[in-house]
Amino acid sequence: MNFPSDFDIARARAETPGCEQVIHFNNAGASLMPASVLDAVLRHYELEAQIGGYEAADQSHDRIEMVYKSAAQLIHAQPDEIAILENATRAWDMAFYAIPFQPGDRILTSRAAYASNYIAFLQAAQRHSLKVEVIPDDEYGQVSIDALENMLDSHVGLVAITHVPTNGGLVNPAASVGKITRAAGLYYLLDACQSVGQMPVHVDEIGCDMLSTTSRKFLRGPRGMGFLYVRRERIQDLLPPMLDLHAARWVSRDRFEVRKDARRFENWERNYAALLGMGTAIDYAMDWGLSQIWARINKVAEYLRSKLAQIPGVKIADKGQVRCGIVTFTAAGKRPGEIQKLLREKKINVSTSTIFSTRLDMEQRGLSELVRASLHYYNTRQEINRFCSEIEAL
Ligand SMILES: Cc1ncc(COP(=O)(O)O)c(C=O)c1O
Repeated sequence: MNFPSDFDIARARAETPGCEQVIHFNNAGASLMPASVLDAVLRHYELEAQIGGYEAADQSHDRIEMVYKSAAQLIHAQPDEIAILENATRAWDMAFYAIPFQPGDRILTSRAAYASNYIAFLQAAQRHSLKVEVIPDDEYGQVSIDALENMLDSHVGLVAITHVPTNGGLVNPAASVGKITRAAGLYYLLDACQSVGQMPVHVDEIGCDMLSTTSRKFLRGPRGMGFLYVRRERIQDLLPPMLDLHAARWVSRDRFEVRKDARRFENWERNYAALLGMGTAIDYAMDWGLSQIWARINKVAEYLRSKLAQIPGVKIADKGQVRCGIVTFTAAGKRPGEIQKLLREKKINVSTSTIFSTRLDMEQRGLSELVRASLHYYNTRQEINRFCSEIEAL
């Protein structure tokens, strides 16, 4: 299998200091940061230490504003449609809990739903007498567009799906879902935590109203950062579940006014070093090109799947018509957690996916735990070969 020949892998690795230390196949956990991202974070902390935190933020004002522009450019949105939050979960929550549900409304979700999102569905269902319903899969194990169409009625209050699940290579057909929600005028919330940074994501082509993502995964930014996109036409209808003096202004003793842009979903205090690091990571990804990144990730992941498939006792678990950089599997005779531990001793990083993160999917497939090897563009054929020999030797 040939990898894209125009990808400068030597440069990618030279700019990623961690590549010399470990074989990092845990990019769906947190990727290795490029040196430029680390530098942006450290430089801001240094500035804070030297001149003061508030003063450092003032001095960096223009660069901070640029992060909104970069985030918007990455997903083909506008800067006033971006809110920067401390992680993808809070970003998603701020959108979800703002939706004006009516008692009896139905929430339609995917089998790949992430635990935190599903827990929020259950909580909202208890509070507002909602129904949570799972859109059946099609023959590839992705959201069935026909099934979704058949489920629509006037009681659907939200369609909320996960683009790429935490536990596998599946890429749900987000844009086909968007065609249906747009035509029906429904709220559409997309969890793009695992897709942004590894593939092109275009909010208008997808047709979602809200999208959440994180910095540390395929974007290669620092931990503790993420962002939310909310389509301009939807912002005024969505009152954030929590407000502070940044999201709203206290205009007279008994009155406040909520911001008009997506920053109404933010809160005041934030980690500016991490925010600037995320901005650098976004620019870095766009500099490589999301299509180029996606092409390389596709190839390395398919190569890993093809090699793993040759190892006796290994079963690959990825679903979907389109599969991404997340490769999940089981190996006979060893528990996934044990495999993770043994590999860690050899400086190979993977993670495990358990039923507690994606219960609907794992229960349906009779799975409780998987090994998750998630690849990025800086991973190589040699690393994959070494990884597979270690798995074979287990
Ligand atoms: C599909 C999905 N959504 C949301 C999240 C949560 O992201 P964060 O930890 O940045 O809040 C994860 C994290 O693994 C995820 O896999």
